[in-house]
Amino acid sequence: MIENKCSIFTKIFKMKLAIINGPNLNLLGTREPGIYGNQDFETFLEVLKEDFPKIHFSYFQSNIEGVIIDHLHKVGFEYDGILLNAGAYTHTSVAIGDALKAIDTPVIEIHLSNTFAREDFRHTSYITPVAKGLIVGFGLDSYRLGVHSFYEKTSLG
Ligand code: DQA
Repeated sequence: MIENKCSIFTKIFKMKLAIINGPNLNLLGTREPGIYGNQDFETFLEVLKEDFPKIHFSYFQSNIEGVIIDHLHKVGFEYDGILLNAGAYTHTSVAIGDALKAIDTPVIEIHLSNTFAREDFRHTSYITPVAKGLIVGFGLDSYRLGVHSFYEKTSLG
């Protein structure tokens, strides 16, 4: 009986994290593996869910700027945190930067590669100034570090 109450409590109060990936990240695993690695995101996500059973994860990927913005508007008033890898839109999208200013949920900017060790145009981000934090260069573990940055601040751990 006590166990049941605990599990109901955990279900109601589960931390909700939204992971959003932008353009070309649907091709992770096959896309430029020397830079982005060999693993697809869906397989990684299953492991992440197993490693953090007390977190509710949602996952969304789109190659379309406006669709990403619509999704930010949806989760940005509902979720406890957002991990956003906006791909190349990071370096170009005033509109995604504005969307982050308009929502309540804190955002951690994520990149698999170390964007600062790459071409100059990747050193600019419209997301960093409005993000809670920035994690770059750890491959898929960048997302895992992002989860920790939210999770370790709660009493649910
Ligand atoms: C990326 C870095 C971006 O510069 C690039 O356009 C991507 C992936 C990363 O995760 O390293 O699509 O966001």
